[in-house]
Amino acid sequence: MPLDHDPDWWRSAVVYQVYPRSFADADGDGTGDILGIIDRLDYLAELGVDAIWVSPWYPSPWADGGYDVSDYRDIAPELGTLEQADVFVTKAHELGLRVLIDLVPNHSSDEHAWFQRALAAEPGSAERDLYLFRNGRGADGDTPPNNWPAMFGGSAWERTESGGRPGQWYLHLFDVKQPDWNWENPVVADEFDAILRFWFDRGIDGFRIDVANSMAKAPGLPDLPVDPDTGEPQSHTLTGTAYMNQPHVHDILRRWRTVSDSYADSELGARIFVSEAWVTPVDELAKYVRDDELHTTFNFDALMCEWTAESQRNVINLTLRAMGDVGAPATWVLANHDTTRVVTRYGRPVTGARFTPDGMDLESFAGIGSVPEGVTDLGLGRKRARAAVLLELALPGGAYVYQGDELGLDEVEDLPEELLQDPTWERSGHTVRGRDGCRVPMPWTGSEAPYGFGPPASPPWLPQPDRWSELTAEGQDGDPRSHLSLYRAALAERRCNPALGDGGLIWDAEVPTGVLSFTREPGFRCVVNFGPDAYQLPVGAEVLIASGDASSRSVGADEAVWLRI
Ligand code: NOJ
Repeated sequence: MPLDHDPDWWRSAVVYQVYPRSFADADGDGTGDILGIIDRLDYLAELGVDAIWVSPWYPSPWADGGYDVSDYRDIAPELGTLEQADVFVTKAHELGLRVLIDLVPNHSSDEHAWFQRALAAEPGSAERDLYLFRNGRGADGDTPPNNWPAMFGGSAWERTESGGRPGQWYLHLFDVKQPDWNWENPVVADEFDAILRFWFDRGIDGFRIDVANSMAKAPGLPDLPVDPDTGEPQSHTLTGTAYMNQPHVHDILRRWRTVSDSYADSELGARIFVSEAWVTPVDELAKYVRDDELHTTFNFDALMCEWTAESQRNVINLTLRAMGDVGAPATWVLANHDTTRVVTRYGRPVTGARFTPDGMDLESFAGIGSVPEGVTDLGLGRKRARAAVLLELALPGGAYVYQGDELGLDEVEDLPEELLQDPTWERSGHTVRGRDGCRVPMPWTGSEAPYGFGPPASPPWLPQPDRWSELTAEGQDGDPRSHLSLYRAALAERRCNPALGDGGLIWDAEVPTGVLSFTREPGFRCVVNFGPDAYQLPVGAEVLIASGDASSRSVGADEAVWLRI
């Protein structure tokens, strides 16, 4: 399949997320690597996606799974070399697959050379001004400069030490090993332009921007208001706070757009961005994809939305209207390396937040990664996940697939505590297990761990559960009822059906409560049944793909079908 040179390729693209440590381990050290990804490129091409996004592959102490970058212009030795990365990009392009990589612009690793220089330099120096160093409060400066909490727990400030004496504090919105860059300093902005160009010049088609809503901080880094009842700082990161979704963050995004647009005349065309911004309501999110800013932005509202017809319909309407207003395509995503696996989420008693026609009911949102009480029904979750992917891939716009979701993998919730690596586990005082359960290495072949992830004698960095012997890619290959076959069929249909991808939809009237049915021209209909009663298919409609068994010409509870009408 040749590379799609339509300059609008990204508006309809399905992008597969590779989390490199957990994808395929070619060298047998227990960690996935670039050669492993190269080995599996044919699998991705056969799956039928249009592009691959590779989560961070840079040198890193791995304090936050590689989102702590110590060198933005190289490849982690554990994963491979720059030359291998070049081979990977060339081969992906030969197979018609575009390649996106991660840009982590809010923070670096504390092991980045510039941070090490800043630590060694004096307060007030040019070196320190690349990051956010401040004096502490109180007579001895031993109180943090403000009351901001870190996303992984504890204070967002860490005190430095020099010559055995306590010194200034530096800001880290995430882990203590992830100091925030000072985006008010033009040297930082210039450096990131150069990093973009470094990778664009090597043939990278675009970037996923990590926490694209966080680089700009409120002037003066003011304290957050304090909740009078709990005494805790009030930090509503989804709806905006002193360090999230500040209006001047958009100046940075506009600057990057000029860099990516400057490649319009190159062989690969203008390069593109997708923003990771957990921002609600969706009208605020839509600002990230105005026509001089980023191209696409993950629609996390839909990811956080509960599995009910009413909420799903509301979130779809809100998204399409808001994105339509700025001329951007919607970007659907069911899961990623930060969220509970979709099979597990949809099998839980509480599947997500409620959405009204006005937006998310914030009271109903328990938090990303929260674990509700009650028993998880993985069979139900898998059934819903099958219906959900037919819904996702039928909606107007582009979509992302997180590695392993095409196999129907579930969250591994019982990893031994001593193996947990997510910084959340330590920083929460061992109260929040974090995100390792969705990062367990892929099962490819065979009946025993490591299931072809690496050579037989190489235990993967996180252990795979025995139940995954039923879910290997090899085992599902050729079984028409498997999760993998459903993904392949839907992606193949999406490629050849002119109604799918970018565009609009029309809701079908006169369907029962609990059923969502929409039509896209020419002649395509998607029906999803969230209710308990089977729904009879319209007479004359031809079933293209069904998540369940549509032989009786009905759609059962938690099933979906694609129809030609
Ligand atoms: C979002 C990334 O997806 C997540 O894995 C990471 O921990 C934070 N940003 C901080 O970089």
